[in-house]
Amino acid sequence: MSPSFLLADGLAKKFPGARGQPDLTVFDDVHFTIEKGEFVCIIGHSGCGKTTILNVLAGLDTASGGNVVMDGREVIGPSLERGVVFQGHALMPWLSAKKNVEFAVRSRWPDKSKKEIDAHCQRYLELVGLTGSEHKKPSELSGGMKQRVGIARAFAIEPKMLLLDEPFGALDALTRGNIQEELVKICAATHQTVFMITHDVDEAILLADKIMLMSNGPRARIAEIVVNTLPKNRSRETLHKEPRYYAIRNHLVDFLVSRSKRFSEELPEGYDPKNPPLVMPGVETQPPPPPVVAAATDFASPGKAVVVNLRN
Ligand SMILES: Nc1ncnc2c1ncn2[C@@H]1O[C@H](COP(=O)(O)OP(=O)(O)OP(=O)(O)O)[C@@H](O)[C@H]1O
Ligand SMILES: [Mg+2]
Repeated sequence: MSPSFLLADGLAKKFPGARGQPDLTVFDDVHFTIEKGEFVCIIGHSGCGKTTILNVLAGLDTASGGNVVMDGREVIGPSLERGVVFQGHALMPWLSAKKNVEFAVRSRWPDKSKKEIDAHCQRYLELVGLTGSEHKKPSELSGGMKQRVGIARAFAIEPKMLLLDEPFGALDALTRGNIQEELVKICAATHQTVFMITHDVDEAILLADKIMLMSNGPRARIAEIVVNTLPKNRSRETLHKEPRYYAIRNHLVDFLVSRSKRFSEELPEGYDPKNPPLVMPGVETQPPPPPVVAAATDFASPGKAVVVNLRN
């Protein structure tokens, strides 16, 4: 079997305790894989360590334990192969929207002509609905517009992996819906691999192939991986009509409301952090067929019925 595109192997993050307090282990024993072209969301309560994990995947932070391998190479620092949309917009305040995108694009393709770079940036700014505002500085943009510049910048470098930290949090419902749909199209067309943090369960069900559920900290873990079994061509309009939609949604909400805390208090029996359980809410798991009792005689013990599983 070929290795996964991304492997997070035993990640842990510890922060030193303040003023004589014990160290804080935010998460440990975090293992997961992401395949090429897969869209993975991670959901968990505030403070459980999602952004820290994303920063480790991006190479912007180092783990206290474990490592990350992407496309056969260990992640040891930031790279233009990974595009990040930060929880805060993280734009350069002295540059216009377009120049912010251009800076990244020029770094990625230093040999492109000015005209090519210009057209490339314009295409991505248009994608996020910023045509007409490209010359404004971040201080002249609304929170949602700043976030959209960050999205355009990450997409424009066409990275091997997109790392998105609640990228649509500051957007109004209409813009959010439009960009989500664009994201689905781009990912389908380019087989983009995505790791995205969200607090929005519907967003996760719309976008993700699998949804990792993170327990509460300290010592948070990947408690479970929910496989999204809804058809690939789902859309915001059709999502709630899918027969398994409510089963998946209820499963995610139930985890956030009660199981994430219980999990952090006591690990479920048999839980193996190296192989968190894969679950498919709403998919009937076939119970094993009951054994068929054949009226045969066990010659070794006369009179005793022999149980024969005729299905084998
Ligand atoms: N530099 C730091 N020093 C000490 N503790 C830190 C530091 N950075 C993060 N933490 C702690 O690590 C934990 C995880 O933080 P992180 O930002 O990864 O959480 P998160 O899951 O992304 O939360 P949210 O959903 O609110 O964005 C928090 O308890 C936070 O206080
Ligand atoms: Mg965060």
